[in-house]
Amino acid sequence: MVCPRNANDLTPRALRGRDVLLRPACSDDARRLAAWHSDPDFVGSFFDPWPESSDAWEERISTRTPEEDTFLICERNSGEKPIGTAGYWNPYTLPRVFRGLEIWYKVHPSSRGRGVATQTASLLLDHLFNSLPVERIQATVVSANEASRRALLRVGMQCEGILRRVYFLHGTYVDVDMFSIVREEWNTRA
Ligand SMILES: CC(C)(COP(=O)(O)OP(=O)(O)OC[C@H]1O[C@@H](n2cnc3c(N)ncnc32)[C@H](O)[C@@H]1OP(=O)(O)O)[C@@H](O)C(=O)NCCC(=O)NCCS
Repeated sequence: MVCPRNANDLTPRALRGRDVLLRPACSDDARRLAAWHSDPDFVGSFFDPWPESSDAWEERISTRTPEEDTFLICERNSGEKPIGTAGYWNPYTLPRVFRGLEIWYKVHPSSRGRGVATQTASLLLDHLFNSLPVERIQATVVSANEASRRALLRVGMQCEGILRRVYFLHGTYVDVDMFSIVREEWNTRA
């Protein structure tokens, strides 16, 4: 499915990897995204469920900027069945001081352990470094989230430190690892 968005939309129709493609989310996806994020199995052990209405998701999808986008991760070989969601956003509120983008992804439990997150992170990095004048891309991961940490290391990101007790998870504050890759590292990756 390819959904039209708006006339000024600069997002590519889809980012194609070996087994998955990332297509921009559209309003038809709002119900699915709302349901997924309300489901404890989908969000996994390192997020609290995030109950939000499909209207809220529709609003988020329709008000995206060049610094924020949401994608559906789809299987390439099964009629582009949605198996997760991913995206990027600007975590920095003062661009005069700090600049960068942050990537994120969530893979449906039925599709985990098959390299989907790794391919997704790689597609997002290639897309952002190829299409925007961004110097730094980061990802934040609860320190205990070994699968996500490994996916980020696999695509050439490095852990640059720990944000101690920054994230409130299941009723307690936990540490989060800050990963990043800068353009020069992406240019010279093997
Ligand atoms: C974390 C998550 C994205 C991983 O997705 P995935 O598609 O299963 O990941 P991949 O198959 O690409 O595997 C990535 C790496 O983690 C390893 N891995 C997979 N599952 C693992 C697990 N349960 N424990 C430890 N390592 C694991 C893989 O072997 C691979 O490592 P390798 O390349 O060194 O062999 C997925 O579990 C998920 O969506 N969880 C809920 C949401 C979430 O935590 N998102 C990330 C937020 S930062």
